[in-house]
Amino acid sequence: MAANLKGRHFLKLMDFTGAEIRDLLELSLALKAKKRSGVRGRALEGRNIALIFEKPSTRTRCAFVVACIDEGAHPEYLGKGDIQLGKKETVADTARVLGRFFDGIEFRGFSHRTVETLAEYAGVPVWNGLTDEWHPTQVLADLMTMREEFGRLEGLSLAYVGDGRNNMANSLVVGGVKQGMHVRIVAPAALQPDARLQAAAEEIGSETGGKLTVTADPQAGVEGAHAIYTDVWASMGEEARIAERIAALAPYRVTPELMAATGLRETIFLHCLPAFHNMETDLAKEYPEIREVADEVFEGSAGRVFDQAENRMHTIKAVMVATLGA
Ligand code: CP
Ligand code: NVA
Repeated sequence: MAANLKGRHFLKLMDFTGAEIRDLLELSLALKAKKRSGVRGRALEGRNIALIFEKPSTRTRCAFVVACIDEGAHPEYLGKGDIQLGKKETVADTARVLGRFFDGIEFRGFSHRTVETLAEYAGVPVWNGLTDEWHPTQVLADLMTMREEFGRLEGLSLAYVGDGRNNMANSLVVGGVKQGMHVRIVAPAALQPDARLQAAAEEIGSETGGKLTVTADPQAGVEGAHAIYTDVWASMGEEARIAERIAALAPYRVTPELMAATGLRETIFLHCLPAFHNMETDLAKEYPEIREVADEVFEGSAGRVFDQAENRMHTIKAVMVATLGA
């Protein structure tokens, strides 16, 4: 198993080469096969891992916990309200304290600056479990899922439809273009990637053969796409914007018609989850129009969302093993 990133932080995919990301995917596939065959690992034996969460999480939290235990490490969950971070103690001080106790630190929260400060001061690897700007471990799982489906990444087209300037859109652009993919962001003008990210994607693409295109036209945007990806219309922390986003993004709902508009029979549907696809959650009852994907698509044969969710665990394990392992 390759992927030696010993001592490195994992804050955003921009910090890694295409080859390093490929190595992490290879390691993830190997760790998945190992787990499936029932072999227990010891790559993180004796390590103590801090898991800091300012925002809620199902997948990321559980992926880190199970990945730690699978490889012999001890995970410690530090939720919002459990520690002093940012309230009574600066991020830099918390980082220096936790760095004395723990061998690695995961952080999920609002400002990307917080995870950068943790990385600057902790003296141990810091991993980004989602900030307002980036969600890099999710994209590793997404790339892994596409690799498993199509046997390759280079040359594939991925259409991300919805809020095109959130942490998922940003991270998919960087991760996809670094793997030589054609990433399309399909979003209304006000929710398209900022100029800096578009320029960065162009530069990366000139080396990898990948590219980014941006359009407001859903039908044209998905034509020829091997995967259609969407995410919630209002991310964590944007609850006040739900009504405005429903108005802006209703034409971008992933429906069976939009899936058919790719013109490819093999197109798969991806979503990082959690997803609004029916009326069974509290928020969906409050906002009946909040539905970025039709239930028929979510539950249909093109859906790979639970493979993605499972792959969160294998990829997060790979990140910890590569940055901390022997
Ligand atoms: N996809 C994802 O990060 O899910 P959680 O918010 O449940 O961790
Ligand atoms: N964009 C979403 C991703 C959740 C995994 C959010 O930040 O809430």
